[in-house]
Amino acid sequence: MQIIDGRAISNEIKKEIAKDLKMFIDAGGKVPHLTVIIVGNDGGSQTYVSHKIKACKKLGFQSTKIQFDEKITEKELLEKIKEINKDDNVDGLLVQLPLPKQISDTKVIETIIPEKDVDGFHPLNIGKMLLGLPTYLSATPYGIIELLKRYKIKTSGKNCVILGRSNIVGTPMSVLMSRKSEIGNSTVTLCHSRTKNIKEITKKADIIIVALGSPEFLKADFVKDGAVVIDVGTTRVKSDKTKSGWKLKGDVKFDEVAEKCSFITPVPGGVGPMTIVSLLKNTLKAAKSNFQK
Ligand code: GUN
Repeated sequence: MQIIDGRAISNEIKKEIAKDLKMFIDAGGKVPHLTVIIVGNDGGSQTYVSHKIKACKKLGFQSTKIQFDEKITEKELLEKIKEINKDDNVDGLLVQLPLPKQISDTKVIETIIPEKDVDGFHPLNIGKMLLGLPTYLSATPYGIIELLKRYKIKTSGKNCVILGRSNIVGTPMSVLMSRKSEIGNSTVTLCHSRTKNIKEITKKADIIIVALGSPEFLKADFVKDGAVVIDVGTTRVKSDKTKSGWKLKGDVKFDEVAEKCSFITPVPGGVGPMTIVSLLKNTLKAAKSNFQK
C-alpha cells in the first residue's frame, strides 16, 4: 500500500508554478491577482480562505480578501462582483461557498465573468469541461487528476466509482474520469443518496473517489483488494487532542481501508493541499490570458 502524499506533490507543483511565474514576469507579464470574497464567519470557510491567501503570498501572487457581514444582501454582493469583473487589475475572482440563505449560489456563480472564474464553477466553464475544451477545471477535481497522474495510476479501462454528486466535486469528477484523455477513459459509476446497494458497487471498483462529507463512511468491507481510494472528505469533528478543539476527518475509515488498498490519500495531507495549488494554477492561467488580450 502506498500513501498518496498530497503535501509533497503540492510542494512540487508550487515550485513549478514559481518557475512558470518567473518566466511570465520576465516576458513582461504582470503579477497575477486573485480576489477572494467571503461572507460571514464560518470557521471552515475562514480557514480555507486564509490558506488560499497565504499560498498566494508565498508564491508572490497579489491577493485581496473581501470580508462581508453574513447579513449582506444578494444585490450588494452581486454589485461588488460586477465591479470586480470590470477591474483589469484582478485576474481571478472567487466567492467562497457556502453562502447565507438569502443569497443564491447560482446567481453569484453566473455573475462572475467566465474569464475570471478560477473556481471553474460558471456554467460556460462547466460546459467547456464537459466537452473537453480548454477551461478552468475546478480545484478539487483538478487536484485529484494531478495526483493520479503523478503517481502514475492507470485509469484507462478501470472501474471508477464516485460517491457524491455535488457540483463542486462528484459530478465534474465523473466527467473527467470518463473523458478520453491521459487520466480518464474509466468506466464511471456515480453513486448518490438514492443509490441502492452502494457496497455491492464499490466492491467492484478499481478506483473509489469519496466526496460525501460523511466521516468514515467507506469501511474495509466496501473495498476490494488492491483498489485505489481517494478521500475528499474534510469534516471538522471535536477532538480533545488538538489546540483548536477539532480535527479533520475524511470519508474513509483510513486504518482498516488502507490495509486493502494499492494507493490511498490521507486526511489531512491528501487531496486538500492539491486544491490550493490548482487554484493558483488557474489564477496564473487567467493572468496569462489577460496578458494576451
Ligand atoms: N467551498 C468548498 N470548496 C470550495 C471551492 O473550491 N471554491 C469555493 N469558492 N468555495 C468552496
